[in-house]
Amino acid sequence: MRRISFDGRVGIVTGAGGGLGRAHALEIALRGGKVLVNDLGGDVAGRGGSASMAETVVEEIRKAGGTAAANHDSVASTQGCEAIVAQAIAEFGKVDVLVNNAGIMRNATLENTSDEDWDAVIATHLTGSFKLTRAVWPHMKAQGYGRIVYTASSAGIFGNPMVGGYGAAKAGIAGLMNVAALEGESHGILCNALMPHAISRMAMQAAADWAGKLEGIDEPMPDACGNSMNPEFNTPLAIYLASEACTATHGLFSQCLGRAARVFIGATPGWQAQRQAPPSVEDIAAHWDEICDTANGFDIPLAARQEHEIVLSRG
Ligand code: NAI
Repeated sequence: MRRISFDGRVGIVTGAGGGLGRAHALEIALRGGKVLVNDLGGDVAGRGGSASMAETVVEEIRKAGGTAAANHDSVASTQGCEAIVAQAIAEFGKVDVLVNNAGIMRNATLENTSDEDWDAVIATHLTGSFKLTRAVWPHMKAQGYGRIVYTASSAGIFGNPMVGGYGAAKAGIAGLMNVAALEGESHGILCNALMPHAISRMAMQAAADWAGKLEGIDEPMPDACGNSMNPEFNTPLAIYLASEACTATHGLFSQCLGRAARVFIGATPGWQAQRQAPPSVEDIAAHWDEICDTANGFDIPLAARQEHEIVLSRG
């Protein structure tokens, strides 16, 4: 297999001052790409800020012979997202890759989640991913090439208690990726999302917040996990999705304890009513098992319209 290279490519990795983002940025640089290392440099809840986290990773990349520049604008503002892209263009002339990775965490049950916490989490994860997509879009479109990797989470796709805003943002990111993939394909902009699993500053905070409240959270990771919760275990899948070698788009992928897998939303064949009059509530109740039955497989529509075609094709 030929080595996957980022020679001549320019990437932006947000939240790359630590954890997963740092590992992603290092890997792109190691493979010849020029990287804008963005990190707000604040605390795990997104408060405060400094240049030092991004600068430390840039130093690391330069010491290893790579090319990188530091940026500590916030992805949680329009101005910040535009400044991030403008800096990448000013320093390196273009943007080929965007890894939307920056994130914060404010854990509480839904009834104890304040408006401020909800808004901050959505603004950083979901709205930040949108605003950066919007800011890189004209550049990627003009050059007919782009790779955007979004960072979703099993906490949103599958669910977890105490992460209302976070879970909603992460599921929303999968929805954003679906739309970006459809809009981007004809322009050579391929979009996919990663659901990582790693021990990081954020994961340690989550474990502390959940301690004694969520079953199993206080138990040590079983020996069978080996080192697979290190951020670096997630990077190969992220960087494959960010590379020219990847021709896939519109995909959601989980990297969990060394296992890489496609995750999808599918629909069961379900129960088909006649189409001239709506079914009754009792009809739904009577066919509940059929509606939920996964034994006969499932369909994976790749656009809203495709669901219509699939249903009609079944008769
Ligand atoms: P982390 O806390 O080490 O990294 C997040 C980084 O984003 C931090 O360095 C932080 O300073 C930066 N950041 C926060 N707000 C920012 C802003 N407004 N602008 C720019 N940078 C900002 O945590 P980790 O685990 O490396 O998280 C990376 C991504 O992976 C996040 O989106 C997280 O939600 C996601 N994720 C992580 C999982 C895990 O198991 N660690 C599981 C699922 C998703």
